[in-house]
Amino acid sequence: MTDRQRFTDRVVLVTGAARGQGRSHALRFAAEGADLILCDLPDGTTVGSVPYDLGSEEELAETARLVREAGRRVVARPADVRDAGQLAELVDAGLSELGRIDVLSANAGIASISTIAEMSDEMWDDMIAVNLSGVFRSMRAVVGPMSEQGYGRIVATSSVVGRQGSPNIGHYVAAKWGVIGLVKSLALEVADRGITVNAVCPTSVDTPMIDNEPFKRLFLPDAEEIRQEDVVEAYRALNPIPVPWLEPGDVSDAVLFLASDQARYITGDALPVALGWNARNAA
Ligand SMILES: NC(=O)c1ccc[n+]([C@@H]2O[C@H](COP(=O)([O-])OP(=O)(O)OC[C@H]3O[C@@H](n4cnc5c(N)ncnc54)[C@H](O)[C@@H]3O)[C@@H](O)[C@H]2O)c1
Repeated sequence: MTDRQRFTDRVVLVTGAARGQGRSHALRFAAEGADLILCDLPDGTTVGSVPYDLGSEEELAETARLVREAGRRVVARPADVRDAGQLAELVDAGLSELGRIDVLSANAGIASISTIAEMSDEMWDDMIAVNLSGVFRSMRAVVGPMSEQGYGRIVATSSVVGRQGSPNIGHYVAAKWGVIGLVKSLALEVADRGITVNAVCPTSVDTPMIDNEPFKRLFLPDAEEIRQEDVVEAYRALNPIPVPWLEPGDVSDAVLFLASDQARYITGDALPVALGWNARNAA
């Protein structure tokens, strides 16, 4: 429980809420008084080029249970952010049970690894479909209700590589740069309707997205056996503040700030939570 209650009776929609950062954001919003609308991938839906397991309906149900345990109401249902129809059903269910949508955390995302020269069409298309078009579809699904209310906060999850190039993940970088372009454009379109639109740009976060063999091997391609301590040091070396990675709650702090009324005059921007990696950006 927190002593702050910045979101009492606000309704917050989080995509990709089964685990990782999405679950953390949902529970932090609930702890500050919000009701939640949650989604993650329907079981059996694949994203073929992703080399690790994605979230499950069981994990989504567990996030929902934890929200209820915090004393808040929740509408949780499987929805693929690539599917406008599933998103519309989620929004309709959320509006009919909870009455409004005040905040969108467009958090769902995937990662995969390839140089551009060797990248398959499938890997490129999956990435753009989830990490860029999925954010667009999530935003579009809530702009109508937020405009009618004259109030909204949209926080999209980009990345520290949404403002820098990076080898081996060019498709991810392109999608995350695109998210910032979407954020800035939508911010201008809705600025006179009480809606703000921003992004967070995390460096590495300790979630299943990076805690898997293919991602560890990216750092230590020649190692016969990957020891956890070797990966810790490789990650730590990336960050000026010598910490290997963020915890999901570190990103939640930024998401909740941007969704709060403390940030009511901040829109169209991208906030790094990046252990100083962002200090290497040109501006
Ligand atoms: N982990 C990192 O190092 C890191 C760093 C910067 C940004 N990010 C971004 O943070 C966000 C959250 O990732 P995470 O670290 O919690 O990873 P995660 O893999 O633990 O969680 C992502 C969630 O999104 C869900 N998802 C994927 N595709 C979906 C789809 N089409 N529809 C609905 N849900 C879908 C997954 O099932 C999963 O539950 C992502 O946008 C990711 O790109 C992650």
